[in-house]
This record gives sequence, structure tokens and C-alpha cells, in this order.
Amino acid sequence: MSIADIKAAGGALGIAVRGLGSALPRQLVTNDDLARTVDTSDEWIKSRTGIAARHFAAGELNIDLAEQAALAAMAKSGANPEDIGVVLVASFTPDRLSPSLACGLAARLNLPEDAIVFDINAACAGWLYALYTARQLLLANPRPCALVVGSEVISRVLDFTDRSTCVLFGDGAAAAVVELSCDKPFYYVAGSRPDADEALYCCGVGDGMRPAVRMRGQDVFRFAVEIIPRCIDQLLTKANLRLDEIDYVVCHQANLRIINNVAKRLGARDGQFFVNLQNLGNTSSASIPLALCDLSEQGKLQPGTRVLCVGFGAGFTWAGCIMEF
Ligand code: ACO
Repeated sequence: MSIADIKAAGGALGIAVRGLGSALPRQLVTNDDLARTVDTSDEWIKSRTGIAARHFAAGELNIDLAEQAALAAMAKSGANPEDIGVVLVASFTPDRLSPSLACGLAARLNLPEDAIVFDINAACAGWLYALYTARQLLLANPRPCALVVGSEVISRVLDFTDRSTCVLFGDGAAAAVVELSCDKPFYYVAGSRPDADEALYCCGVGDGMRPAVRMRGQDVFRFAVEIIPRCIDQLLTKANLRLDEIDYVVCHQANLRIINNVAKRLGARDGQFFVNLQNLGNTSSASIPLALCDLSEQGKLQPGTRVLCVGFGAGFTWAGCIMEF
């Protein structure tokens, strides 16, 4: 068999989601709560973003949320620890720079020592990057399942004197147990574009400053409304489908105006673009799996339901997939 044959065979394999789980910090912070300490208002935040409230960690670590979400996903999936051969955690807010959240998770969940465990930072596209990476790693793994987690504690890297960013984000985690599947197709696109102007970033150790998210909102808006339709178009072409053959589109939940802008331009039907950011805010790499959890809890992910996901974020990075439940 040639390498091309092997790649072609691997490329035909899909992904089946066996179980989803989520975890949110106990503390819910409404816009009015924020307005007590930040120069903002419920009206401004809601009308610009659609966000009414978000959860902020009050003592919970990122690893605590990741563990809770992973345990819930494993319980739903029926998978045992020895079934897990790959653990990937997408995050840009790990508790420590090293070791990874994935290492900590493997220890807390008593996963096999031969599991491949590491974190992925592709900002708000991170969970989809991780999902694709997990699929590739499962192709050469003796164990059947991967645990793919998006987990963020963004409240720790917010500058509460910058009202244009601190009102947008929230904390949370969600996880999926996935396995390879011969009959569930998986179409995927991803990319990145150098953002020389640094429209969106979080400073780190090299900057010599306390980590904080910085953003030029209008540049990010322009990038998002350009890249989401392009991803959708590329995915539909790959899958040979039309948009009306997709049951739900799950975009990264950054901002209602971004989602509405794209849905309207593409002529989507009412409710086709799923939205759950109202009480979560922007949870970066956790936002897409949190939306999938909500869809599942609402009974909307039935056998055969087709979902198209698109993530986009700092970098700029983007990723998208079509998968069937
Ligand atoms: N409350 C009240 N007023 C505010 C706030 C606030 N929280 N934030 C900014 N303002 C004020 C500004 O000071 C400014 O006042 P001025 O005119 O007196 O100077 C005015 O509102 C307009 O500010 P803009 O920054 O121009 O606000 P804009 O209308 O662009 O809305 C927003 C900002 C919502 C961020 C918008 O640019 C946007 O939707 N961007 C998309 C980016 C996004 O959603 N990013 C999410 C994170 S990134 C990601 O997930 C990939």
C-alpha cells in the first residue's frame, strides 16, 4: 500500500461522538452585576453582543472544570478509562504553563499511561483543531476513544478596566468522547492567517506583563464575517451538500451580531444557526462543545442529525467541520 493509499483510507474515516458533557463555574455574573464595577450597561452589552450573563470562576481551576466536563462526557458515552488513548485539551487559559491540562486530566481520571495527552492552543478555533487532531491520532492508536475537551477560565486574563473586552467573555468547559466511525462522515477545513496588527491577543510571559486579553473589536468582526461564510462554503463543497441539508450550524459563540450577520447573508432558516451565548458569553475554545451539549440536552442531536461547526479566533485561526450524529 502506498502512503497516498493509506492517507486516502484514513481520510474516508469519520468521527462518532459517543458522549458530551459540560461544566460551568457556580458564579453567574449578569450585565447588571458587571455594571456595578465597570462603566457599562445591560443595554449596551445586550444590544452589541446578545450577552446577558456569563459564569466566572470563583475558586474553580481550569482543571476542575475540565475534569467535571470530561467525567460527564465519559458517563454519557459509557466509555471506561482504559478505552481512552488520546486526551486533548484546547485552552488558552491553562492553570500552569506546564505540565498541560491534558496531563492533569489523565492523572485525575486514572487514564492509561500509554495515552497521548497534550494541550492545543488555537484560541477560539481550538476545540475543532483538537477534534481533527484526535481523529488523526486515533488512526494509529490501539485504544478506541479520544477525550476532546475545550476548557477556559478567561476571567483570570481579563482587564476589568477595559470595558470593551471584559464584558464579552465567560468561563466554562465541555468535553466529547469520540471514536472513529466508518459510517459517520467527517469533513474538515482549517487555517490561519498572520494577524500582523494583533487585533486580538492575550499577553503572556514574554510580554513581561500580567496576562490580559486585548482586542480591536471591529477588526475581529470584519475577520469573522468574512471567514465564517468561506468555511461554510468550503465544507459544503467538500461534502457535496447545500446549506438547507444541514440541520444546525454551530458557530463559535462570540457575538450574536456576527452570527446573525452571517445567517442572514447565507439565507439560513430561522433557528438553523444555533445560539446559546446569552447566558455564557464568549467561552473561546469551550464555546462550540458547550453549544453541542446544549443541542444534545434539548434533544436536537438525533441519529443522522447533521451539524456544521465553525470556529475562529486569535491568530487569526479558523476551523470547521461537518459531522453526523
Ligand atoms: N459599555 C459601554 N460602552 C462601551 C463598552 C461597554 N462595555 N465598550 C465600548 N464602549 C463604548 C466605547 O468607549 C465607544 O465610546 P465612544 O464612542 O464614546 O468612544 C463606543 O462604545 C463604541 O465603541 P466601539 O469599540 O466602536 O464599539 P463597537 O460598536 O465596535 O462594539 C464590539 C464593540 C461589540 C466588541 C464590536 O466591535 C464587535 O462586535 N466585535 C466583534 C468582536 C467580538 O465579538 N469579539 C469577541 C471576542 S474575539 C473571538 O471570540 C474571536
